[in-house]
Amino acid sequence: MWAELLPMGRSSASGGYRRYAWTGADADCRTWFQEQAEARGLAYETDRNGNQWAWLGDPAAGNAVVTGSHLDSVPDGGAFDGPLGVVSAFAALDELRGRGARFTRPLGIVNFGDEEGARFGLACVGSRLTAGALTVEQAHRLTDGDGVTLPRAMEDAGYDPDTLGADPERLARIGAFVELHVEQGRALDLSGDRIGIASAIWPHGRWRFDFRGEANHAGTTRLADRRDPMLPYAETVLAARREAELAGAVATFGKVGVEPNGVNAIPSLVRGWLDSRAADQESLDAVVSGVERAAREHAAAHGADLDVVRESFTPVVEFDHALRDELARILGGATELKVPVLGTGAGHDAGILSGRIPTAMLFVRNPTGVSHSPAESAAEDDCVAGVIALADVLEGLACT
Ligand code: GLV
Ligand code: MN
Ligand code: MN
Repeated sequence: MWAELLPMGRSSASGGYRRYAWTGADADCRTWFQEQAEARGLAYETDRNGNQWAWLGDPAAGNAVVTGSHLDSVPDGGAFDGPLGVVSAFAALDELRGRGARFTRPLGIVNFGDEEGARFGLACVGSRLTAGALTVEQAHRLTDGDGVTLPRAMEDAGYDPDTLGADPERLARIGAFVELHVEQGRALDLSGDRIGIASAIWPHGRWRFDFRGEANHAGTTRLADRRDPMLPYAETVLAARREAELAGAVATFGKVGVEPNGVNAIPSLVRGWLDSRAADQESLDAVVSGVERAAREHAAAHGADLDVVRESFTPVVEFDHALRDELARILGGATELKVPVLGTGAGHDAGILSGRIPTAMLFVRNPTGVSHSPAESAAEDDCVAGVIALADVLEGLACT
């Protein structure tokens, strides 16, 4: 499975993945998912929001156990963020069949669409729609960098965007969702453990800062006469770093757009996106308001106008304690693994669903902690340990 997925959407220039929602690379991954489902005799379906499901047993029976993750990527992402959870889900099912496990609850494997939000700017679109955390009207307004709307992109990919919307009946059939994911930090590497269990996801969001000035000639315009929006933008990037340090949080300007984007032109517009996350809401609020205050001061000092728009926000997620304890009990007993419980600053579909259904996450050790980069990695024996741990959990939850 891993070898089949590896070439899909991989840039030969960077070695990273460009599997953006509703593109050709995404379609290749989706075809792969459907083939894996059918090869195992699972009932395959796409839901009203374009998420893919594979079922063993009848989900209408209710109290289903679901596992899976996502197959899309950030720009030049790594191979593991997302796909490890989907591949491990199929591999865990194979493992359980090899053990002769008898299922007492329906088992679902899911690939959530557009988890990274690389194309339309909002993360977890598939799970947010399903959970009713994103309205159809909001989804219809999502537009990519080329001006293509989400409904148009779905239609071009052969899906019907008229069906988008909350799917409470589907969620009502699920008794537990467990997402396995490569760790996106070094906690397991430092503690010397292969597998961890998630405790919580930090509150996080994305804010767009539009600095508007005046385009002019880079050679002939006196410095004193300029309204250059690049200057307050640069000050704001530095302010974000300072505010994050003060609050013990993180803040990143990782994407920037410049108009007219000419070497010899003073920009008319600099648009930067702030991604900020913190362990608690108060710290996150302090970072974002501090960055915005600095941006306004510097914009005024340079004669630029500023608009700040919050594009997305996910409050703190505390995973279901009973399910988390059940995972710890199963893993502690079955494999005698020491399984640390850790929080994370990364967003996940499991976080979106946790407000609606009991949800848990397993993390697989990442030896460098690097993620959202082509250098993201996990050792093969740790990935195998992840599959066995997931199989143990599914067996404990869904089998006699
Ligand atoms: C998703 O991976 C995110 O945390 O941005
Ligand atoms: Mn990611
Ligand atoms: Mn992910």
